[in-house]
Amino acid sequence: MFNKILVAVDGSEHAAKAVDTAIEIARKFDAPLVFLSVYKHYSRMESTHSLVQTREVPQSPDETLGKLARDTAERAAAYAKEHGVERAEAVSKRGPVARTIVDFINKQNIDTIVMGRRGLGDMEGLLLGSVSHKVCSLAECTCITVK
Ligand SMILES: Nc1ncnc2c1ncn2[C@@H]1O[C@H](COP(=O)(O)OP(=O)(O)OP(=O)(O)O)[C@@H](O)[C@H]1O
Ligand SMILES: [Mg+2]
Repeated sequence: MFNKILVAVDGSEHAAKAVDTAIEIARKFDAPLVFLSVYKHYSRMESTHSLVQTREVPQSPDETLGKLARDTAERAAAYAKEHGVERAEAVSKRGPVARTIVDFINKQNIDTIVMGRRGLGDMEGLLLGSVSHKVCSLAECTCITVK
């Protein structure tokens, strides 16, 4: 356990708490951290009414979301390095969020994933199951949900 820890980051406050917990574990066990941020596919058609479009960003929505995801993962990795974790890597991927995280866990021999807690105020999220809930159900590795 703790040979390769994945931290799922979406830029939220909850994920920031997960980052701090993962850093503590990595420092205690001298473990490497991989920060993963996943963005969904967003076609131009779908984006007609989106915020991305109204902000007049001169990039495609996919590029914009991809850059946001990369920045999120890279900021977390830089923060981990500043806080004493020597091996911290940033990865961003596009796809269905929970499925993409689980695929990454399987392909990269991740033994532990650390995530933030799910949103409890959102009825839709409660009914459909949040990202963290899906990942905990589907992943074979140890799942830590930070509250
Ligand atoms: N796009 C993402 N990329 C990487 N990790 C994510 C992503 N979305 C969620 N996570 C991980 O899952 C944790 C919980 O987020 P989750 O999406 O399950 O709940 P939520 O956003 O509060 O509610 P909802 O179920 O409405 O999405 C986050 O703190 C983060 O660790
Ligand atoms: Mg979410």
